[in-house]
Amino acid sequence: MNHQSTPEITELILKAAEKARRETSSTPEPELVKPLTWPVQCTVGPGLEGAISCETKIGYVNGSKGWLIYRGYDIFDLCAYSTFEEVSYLLLHGNLPTGEQLDRFNKKLISYRSLPKTLRKMISFPLEEMSTMAALRIGTMMMRQAQTFLDKEAARPDPVDATDTDADSIPMETKPLGEKRAIYEFKNNRKKRPKQVTADIISAQELESAYHLISGMGTLVGAISRLRVGKMPTEPDPELSHAGNLLYMMTGKRPTPVEERIMDVSLILHADHGMNASTFASMVVASTLSDVYFSVGAGIAALNGPLHGGANEQVLYQLESIGNPENVKQWYANARENKTKIMGFGHRVYKAYDPRARVLGPLAEYLGQHNRNAKRLCKVAKTLEKEVVSSLGQSKGIFPNVDFFSGLVYSAMGIPAPLYTPMFAASRVSGWTARIMEYLKNNRIFRPRAIYTGDFDRPYVPVEKRKK
Ligand code: ACO
Repeated sequence: MNHQSTPEITELILKAAEKARRETSSTPEPELVKPLTWPVQCTVGPGLEGAISCETKIGYVNGSKGWLIYRGYDIFDLCAYSTFEEVSYLLLHGNLPTGEQLDRFNKKLISYRSLPKTLRKMISFPLEEMSTMAALRIGTMMMRQAQTFLDKEAARPDPVDATDTDADSIPMETKPLGEKRAIYEFKNNRKKRPKQVTADIISAQELESAYHLISGMGTLVGAISRLRVGKMPTEPDPELSHAGNLLYMMTGKRPTPVEERIMDVSLILHADHGMNASTFASMVVASTLSDVYFSVGAGIAALNGPLHGGANEQVLYQLESIGNPENVKQWYANARENKTKIMGFGHRVYKAYDPRARVLGPLAEYLGQHNRNAKRLCKVAKTLEKEVVSSLGQSKGIFPNVDFFSGLVYSAMGIPAPLYTPMFAASRVSGWTARIMEYLKNNRIFRPRAIYTGDFDRPYVPVEKRKK
């Protein structure tokens, strides 16, 4: 992707960065940026607030200052100068790729972007009756490589192979030889689990699965977008970037350079974000030595909820239900009276302005200049933002989060709301897989405890003697 063709987008990002730097100080939270010695002392609130789960070199969120850093790089710099492909490589490998490394990585992504056998299976599901996130989860399970060395099921023959649709297993009937029952054979040229599985082999296998998922989940989102409205999936275009392909496969139209760039920036912004609920869910599954596909499936499930990634879709419905900027005051007063949470506001970690919203807000406004409906919704959003920040910003540290503006950006590009959370997942998969792989290097199964507040010593009563 050529950033020179979209200087206006770079300029908007740099302006947002300048504003953020002016308004935030550069001091990290000292207790959260030094190596740990276990056991660690920390104060834990409900929902594990404040709990320290592990050390990481992948990313850092400073909630009181409103900073987001991936592997030492400021998110604003990555948005202004980098691409989602580079950022995914950075998260997984620790450094930005050299030209040659990027070339190899891109080739890998191109080869994994085509999922003909998985899509053939997806076509047979009633996706139009299904939540898009459920469809995405099914799709990733069908991408799953049963040869994952950690997966005991891999030892089983044919029935398992049949679900592994993209790993060269082609179900076909044998020539009729007068058998009394149908026999299916599966061409299986996948690697067998070696007798000795070293840590190196395991992590090479996991890395390959990570590449497969990072690339393939974009294809799944594209296919879901089309299948749910009765259209056939669009083949990826090897000439387009990951962001360009995502838009192309969703809409069937080649994006403009501005659309491709804005999609790319959005993917960068959503790629990683500390120990959020979906990342933690995927790491909990990985810590049992399940495989990367199952772990990512857990991440998708957790991201789906309206308190997490599902908020972006809800934000759009919320703005549409408000309708016009003049209605904001009354709508907000009613919401406050009914103690309704305002979708797209608040965050467990950020008690300052979310840097991702600082970038997406101006991008939404930029797109709104050329789209009447988006312009109206943007005005509603900006009016609501003023109301919420002036009443809850100082007192409770409630500001817009990433989900407040992402839906506006996508809707201005003509993408329907049910696709917003799957698009989020197609980006966050980079962070999920990077953190899973980092954690597995020093794995210890996650296993907190709960305080039991139930009864003791209850006498057992047989069913026929139990009373209501
Ligand atoms: N609207 C109004 N009040 C809010 C909001 C909101 N969006 N968010 C928090 N508050 C208030 C709560 O009512 C509570 O007030 P109280 O102390 O008077 O009871 C206080 O702020 C703390 O709120 P909690 O819900 O305890 O904060 P928590 O850290 O548990 O939740 C969360 C964070 C889930 C993000 C919350 O702010 C929320 O529900 N926001 C709306 C949904 C949303 O936008 N989610 C996306 C988050 S970003 C992401 O996941 C990608």
